[in-house]
Amino acid sequence: MTNAPDVAAPNTSDIYQPSAEIVEQANVTAYMRQKGLSSYDELHRWSLENNEAFWSDMANELEWYQPWDKVLDDSNKPFFKWFTGAKTNIVHNAIDRHLKTWRKNKLALIWEGEDGEQRSYSYFSLNIEVSKIANVLKSMGVKKGDVVTIYMPRIPELMFSMLACAKIGAAHSVVYGGFSEAALADRLADAKSKVLITADGGFMRNKVIELKKIVDEALARTPTVQTCLVFKRAGNAVEMVQGRDLWMHDLLNLPIANSSCPTEEMDAEDMLFILYTSGTTGKPKGVVHTHGGYQVGTSTTLKYVFDVKDEDRYWCAADPGWITGHSFIVYAPLILGATSIMYEGAPNYPYPDRWWQIVARTGVTVLYTAPTAIRGLMRFGELWPSRHDMSSLRLLGSVGEPINPEAWRWFYQVIGGERCPIMDTWWQTETGHFMITPTPVMPLKPGSATKAFLGIEVDVVHEDGTPCEPNEDGLLVIKRPWPGMMRTVLNDPQRYVDTYWARLPDMYAAGDSARKDEDGYIWVIGRLDDVIKVSGYRLGTAEVESALVSHPAVAEAAAIGLPHEVKGNAIHAFVMLRSGFEGSHELEEKLRAHVGHELGPIARPDSITFTLSLPKTRSGKIMRRVLKARALGQPEGDISTLEE
Ligand code: PRX
Repeated sequence: MTNAPDVAAPNTSDIYQPSAEIVEQANVTAYMRQKGLSSYDELHRWSLENNEAFWSDMANELEWYQPWDKVLDDSNKPFFKWFTGAKTNIVHNAIDRHLKTWRKNKLALIWEGEDGEQRSYSYFSLNIEVSKIANVLKSMGVKKGDVVTIYMPRIPELMFSMLACAKIGAAHSVVYGGFSEAALADRLADAKSKVLITADGGFMRNKVIELKKIVDEALARTPTVQTCLVFKRAGNAVEMVQGRDLWMHDLLNLPIANSSCPTEEMDAEDMLFILYTSGTTGKPKGVVHTHGGYQVGTSTTLKYVFDVKDEDRYWCAADPGWITGHSFIVYAPLILGATSIMYEGAPNYPYPDRWWQIVARTGVTVLYTAPTAIRGLMRFGELWPSRHDMSSLRLLGSVGEPINPEAWRWFYQVIGGERCPIMDTWWQTETGHFMITPTPVMPLKPGSATKAFLGIEVDVVHEDGTPCEPNEDGLLVIKRPWPGMMRTVLNDPQRYVDTYWARLPDMYAAGDSARKDEDGYIWVIGRLDDVIKVSGYRLGTAEVESALVSHPAVAEAAAIGLPHEVKGNAIHAFVMLRSGFEGSHELEEKLRAHVGHELGPIARPDSITFTLSLPKTRSGKIMRRVLKARALGQPEGDISTLEE
C-alpha cells in the first residue's frame, strides 16, 4: 500500500523526440504527404475541418458488401449512426478478405500457454477454426441478433469464439475470465444469453482456475442459459449437466462442424458485441458496439498509432476479455492482417523475465501493455530484461490509467533501449478505440497521452462547458462523434443519455478529470466518479459494496480506492456490521474472500475497516470522498451536506 506512484504532473521540459527513421517510416507521415500537408497538427486540423472526408478515407481502406449512403447520421442525437446504408461484417475484413491475398498463409496468431505450449494459426487456419465454431453455434440454434456470452481463459478459442459469433451475426458478450459468479450471473441475466461458451479451467501462475465450477454456480442463479459449450483446456474434473452442457471437442468432430461457413451480411449499425463496464451506480452497463464504425475506428487507430505493417510482430499483452483485448488483440490487428502474439499466463511466471523471453524469442516489434504491469516488472530490476535481446522492439504502448513518469522512463530506457517511442493511449470501453494518443511522429512528454487522434476533438472544460485555461483542472470531454463510439447501453438507452451526454450540451463527458498544458498536451488525472482502477481494471464501488452486503454479517459497506505502488489503486472497504456480529481479523479475511468469490480476485479489498457509522449526505448517499480524505489524512473539503 501507499507509496503512490508519482502522479503525472506537467513537466514541459522533459520532452522525447522521435528519431528521423521512425518519423520517415510512419504510416501517418505517408498520409500527411498524400494530403500535401507538412505537420501532424495541420493534418489534425484538416481531419476536423473535413471530418466526414477523413473517416470515409479510412473506411475506404476496408471492404464493404455495399457502400454507405451517409458517413454520419446525427438526426437523432446522441444516438449517432455511422456509415448508414452500408452492408458489411467485421469478420469479412478481419479474415475473409485476407484469404484472397498472399496473407492467407501469413501467421495471424502466435499463442503461448503458461505451461510453454505453443500454437500458431495462419489466416487460412484461423478461418477454419472460426467457421467450425460458427457452424456449431448455428446447430445450437444461435441466430443473427442473439447474444452469446463467452467466459474463457486466455486461449485462442476465446478469440475464435468471438469471431464465430460475429461471423454469423450474433453479438458476443465476453465476461473477463477473472470475474466470478455474481459478476457472471448479472451479465448473463442482463444480456439474456441462451448460449454460454466456456472452458473447464485456465492456468494462472501454475494454478488451475476452475471456470466451469464458477459457471455452474452462476447458472444456478440465472435461468436464461439453455446450452453451455465447454472447451477443454486445464483438464480439471468438471461436472457436465445433462441436456445443458456439451464438450466442444466432441461437437467440433461432428459433421455439423463443417469448416466452411458463409459470413452473414450485416447492416453497418448492427450490434457486434456488448461489453459490460462499471459506472457510478448500480449494475454494470452493457456497452453496445456495432460492426461498421467500430471496424473503421479500431483499424485506423492501430494503423496510425502503432504503425502496424506486414513485417511486424505485434503484442498487446491485455486480456481479450476487456475492451483493449477486443479492439487491439482481436479485431484491429486481424483487420490490418497483422501477426499477433497472445500469452496465456502471468508476466512473472515462472520467472520475472517471461515477457522478455517471449519478446526475444518471437521477435516482437510492438509491445502494448499497462502501467501496472510495467510497475510490477520494474520491481524485479534491470537484470531480468537485460538477459534478453529485445532489439526487435520498435514501438511501445501503455493504456488503462495515467502512467507515472518513473514507470514511463523505465519502460523507455530498460525495455525500449531508448529507441522506442511510447504510445500512451487514452480511451475507454465506451470509445471503442484510441482517442487521445501520440502517433510515432510526435514529441512525447512522460505521463501525457499527448493530443487527440485524427478526426477526434477533445477538450478540458469547466462544469459549464467553457474551456479551461492551460494547466487548469477540468472535465475531459469529446466534442464530436466518432465511428467506434458506443451506440447505447443495452436495455437502458436513457442511461446512455444520462451518463455521457446530459452533463454538457453536445459534449460526451468521459468521467475523467484532466488538464491541458500550454503546448496543448493533455494530462489525464483520473476518474471523477465512483470507479476505481485497480491494476488498470475498472471496478465500480457499487459492485464491491453489493458483494460485501450480500454477506450475512454486513449491514452497510462503502468502498474507496487508495493509492498503491503497483496496482495504481487498491480497494479499501468500510463495513458496518449487523447486530450480533463483531469485527475481527478472521471476519475481515472472510469478507475479503467473500468479495473474491462473488466478484473475482481483482475486486478483493486490500483491507477492511469495521465502523459504527458511515458519513452520509442528508439524502442518504455515502460520502466516499470524505472517507478517502480521512484515510489519506487530507482535508475533508466541503462537508456542508454531511448528515449530523
Ligand atoms: O480513467 C481513464 C482510464 O481508464 C478509463 C477507461 O477504462 P476502461 O473502460 O476499462 O478502458 C481501459 C482501456 C481502454 C478512462 O476513463 N484510462 C485509460 N487509458 C488511460 C487512462 N487514464 C490515463 N491515461 C491513459 N492512457
